[in-house]
Amino acid sequence: MIFDLHPLHPNFGVEILGTDVTRPLTAAQIREIRAAFETHSLLLFRGHPIDDARQLAFSKYFGEPQISFSGNQTGGTHFSRQSNIDPETDALLPLDHKQMVYQSGNVMWHSDSSYRESGSLCSILSAREVTPEGGHTEFVSQRAAWEALPAERQQALEGRFAIHSIVHSRNLIAPNLLTEAQEKEIPAARHALVKVNPVNRRKSLFLGAHASHIEDMPVEEGQALLRELLELATRKTEIYSHKWEIGDVIVWDNRCMLHRATPFDVTRHRRLLQRTTVPGDASDHAVL
Ligand code: OGA
Ligand code: MN
Repeated sequence: MIFDLHPLHPNFGVEILGTDVTRPLTAAQIREIRAAFETHSLLLFRGHPIDDARQLAFSKYFGEPQISFSGNQTGGTHFSRQSNIDPETDALLPLDHKQMVYQSGNVMWHSDSSYRESGSLCSILSAREVTPEGGHTEFVSQRAAWEALPAERQQALEGRFAIHSIVHSRNLIAPNLLTEAQEKEIPAARHALVKVNPVNRRKSLFLGAHASHIEDMPVEEGQALLRELLELATRKTEIYSHKWEIGDVIVWDNRCMLHRATPFDVTRHRRLLQRTTVPGDASDHAVL
């Protein structure tokens, strides 16, 4: 082992001590980080403020980052900016600004890009400006949620598919937020309700705010099932809540984790996190 690992939650998550992700990593370091990612689902690195170019370079150790959806401020770039600051004027954005409304959807538990067919392998989020209070990001493991289900419930869920859609999740916060062109940009995607990690074969649920209903099940029944599973997965004891400090970088596995933003006083405090997102591939979707 090159690195020391410090656990963050009994179910998942480690802080990796003694590495600087703003510098090029050796093949052995990359291997160890990738192995820790598959096992622990969330990796925290602290103490090394990162810029966009270096975040992009670090992200590429996990895969080629996707271009972000045009609904976000930084749409069309490799970054998905999570911020209440106007990048043009550096002033705080008004509450009713489109970006603030779009971003408010992040307080719902979700897996990034589950509305895309490819889903996402992982997101990499770095803290550039942080709040003195509030504005934590919370995480839960859908692997732990799966493992806690009785065998007969597991059996009933295997082989099911959910439909995930950004139109669905944004409609929950503000109908008509997306333009017609944006709605067409990303049609709904179909994902197995139970995912299998291709490296260690561990299974997890695959839920979140973009999941609108379950295929081949009456819509309301499917939605009730999704709600019930989400409640089980996100009980208080299952949550790791991260209080950001400048220089923190978190990588999480979108195949088996859910996350959400928590509120802060957006009229008083500045917050800027930058996210890169690596897409998944068909092997994440194995239905067994
Ligand atoms: C994200 C996200 C939550 C937050 O970057 O994908 O959901 O706390 N962020 O900003
Ligand atoms: Mn997110």
